[in-house]
Amino acid sequence: MPTQKKRPLVVVTRKLPDPIETRMMELFDAKLNLADKPLSQAELIEAVKTADVLVPTLTDRIDGAVLAHAGPNFRLIANFGTGVDHIDLAAARQRGVTVTNTPGVLTEDTADMTMALILAVPRRLIEGANALRNSGGEWSGWSPTWMLGQRIWGKRLGIIGMGRIGQALARRAKAFGLSIHYHNRKRVHESVEQELEATYWESLDQMLARMDIISVNCPHTPATFHLLSARRLDLLQPHAYLVNTARGEVIDENALIRKLRKSEIAGAGLDVFEHEPSVNPKLLELKNVVLLPHMGSATLEGRVDMGEKVIINIKTFADGHAPPDRVIAGLL
Ligand code: DGY
Repeated sequence: MPTQKKRPLVVVTRKLPDPIETRMMELFDAKLNLADKPLSQAELIEAVKTADVLVPTLTDRIDGAVLAHAGPNFRLIANFGTGVDHIDLAAARQRGVTVTNTPGVLTEDTADMTMALILAVPRRLIEGANALRNSGGEWSGWSPTWMLGQRIWGKRLGIIGMGRIGQALARRAKAFGLSIHYHNRKRVHESVEQELEATYWESLDQMLARMDIISVNCPHTPATFHLLSARRLDLLQPHAYLVNTARGEVIDENALIRKLRKSEIAGAGLDVFEHEPSVNPKLLELKNVVLLPHMGSATLEGRVDMGEKVIINIKTFADGHAPPDRVIAGLL
């Protein structure tokens, strides 16, 4: 009789879309989190001690202290999400643990949300909606001088990070009449620059000083932590807007709050925060900001696509092959 291959023991740290959980149960010995209660550090340690695979999300801190307890079977972290800044990659590499993520499938959704913030902040969308809702049906009506925002068309957008999401944003922004500028570690291929009519700025400082709107679309890594430092934020023009749908840590949030409070920049649209899920109460007091609860990629389709990527990564790995979305290649 042929011997049955052992199904990997997979611990999933958060509730995932139903079809993904169903498929995981079919394919793996999956320990799901139906209650969606985030795991404590002790529970994460227990998971890496006993499981073959961990499926964490950005809300789990998989640091050296957790990975130090990795058991002999623990070989794969199949992250549900693209950003891997919550995982100590060096510790994973050192232990021969492979790390995968879910790139590509949340590009368009995140670019949509970034564009939505680029429209919402200068055009005072949330402020206007709230004013109407809070008027209790007694809105005084249209006025030539009420709720005036800033025009989007014809302005300069500076994109920090011209990867998939940056490019998807640029396509949208171009259709809204924004001229596209970008700063990136590497200049993108000239065919992309031509398509987007994008201007490359080698100097981030120089780009910041000349833009009307800045969008942060780069990952958070040690190199991008506080990339927008107090000094760099000071380079922004007083009429500039700042949008961030990447990671809060890329901006020195306290410095940003100081600038917003003094109206030294016009406003900000933030979907991510430096100390998530805590949000600095000073931000909540500000009028010239739109704050969202990290929902850039939050579509049903996107979450299912992410789950499918996770499953493919685990299945490929369990079958003895290199998974497609490797961030860190451990031992096969
Ligand atoms: C990711 O996948 O890193 C995103 O931030 C989730 O929205």
